[in-house]
Amino acid sequence: MPPDVWNSGIGSDMMKNIIFNPNVYRFLYSVDRLFPDNQVEKSVLDCGAGGKIPPLGLLHKLGFDTCGIDILDEQIEMVRRFEEEHDVDLNIQKADMTEIPFDDESFGYVYSQNSIFHLTKYDTAKAMHEMKRVLRPQGFLYVNFLSVKDEGYGEGEEVGPGEWRALEHGESTVHSYYGDGEPDQYFADTRIILREKRILDSRNHNRKMVYIEYIARKA
Ligand SMILES: C[S@@+](CC[C@H](N)C(=O)[O-])C[C@H]1O[C@@H](n2cnc3c(N)ncnc32)[C@H](O)[C@@H]1O
Repeated sequence: MPPDVWNSGIGSDMMKNIIFNPNVYRFLYSVDRLFPDNQVEKSVLDCGAGGKIPPLGLLHKLGFDTCGIDILDEQIEMVRRFEEEHDVDLNIQKADMTEIPFDDESFGYVYSQNSIFHLTKYDTAKAMHEMKRVLRPQGFLYVNFLSVKDEGYGEGEEVGPGEWRALEHGESTVHSYYGDGEPDQYFADTRIILREKRILDSRNHNRKMVYIEYIARKA
């Protein structure tokens, strides 16, 4: 059975703004399809939760207790505007995903979309360790990485193997790129339930983005 996400008030103005997040739907649908009897608590932490249309907006609408961290004030400010506009509290605070300020096993779900590849691979290992630490046993994790096949690969200054520093929207930013299966190293103590390469023709970045997407379950 599809989850109740498919019957969650589509048609309201709020849903028109936030419905289009296929990553959130794929995450929840994959979990529901593979674990139809899953009883994991519907609490979610989003790492890199900022931006104009926060994924937590949709997760909140779908009945999750939400919590988010982001390292940049201006990204958090955008979420504040979203919260005001939609009269919701998504519970976002400023923090670094390499040092998540929550106790072990605090969340049933941990989500991180289009964010972790802004870290070096050294910091990515730390962030992945942190995400798994705050996840409850049997909890679910969604993370996507950038593939070496992404059209931005090789742009800017190489700062490490597969790590490039380049301007993005005028800001100097790191991008870490991965070969197929390379991020598996971060999931050793989980069960990977989905690993897929996804190609997105991004109008925002004016190029083809190639992601490697993971959904995993903590042991
Ligand atoms: C491309 S945006 C994606 C935002 C949102 N997840 C989305 O998909 O719309 C990347 C986000 O990651 C945040 N970020 C980068 N490094 C971070 C870190 N070490 N800890 C927490 N957030 C971080 C940035 O501030 C930014 O908001």
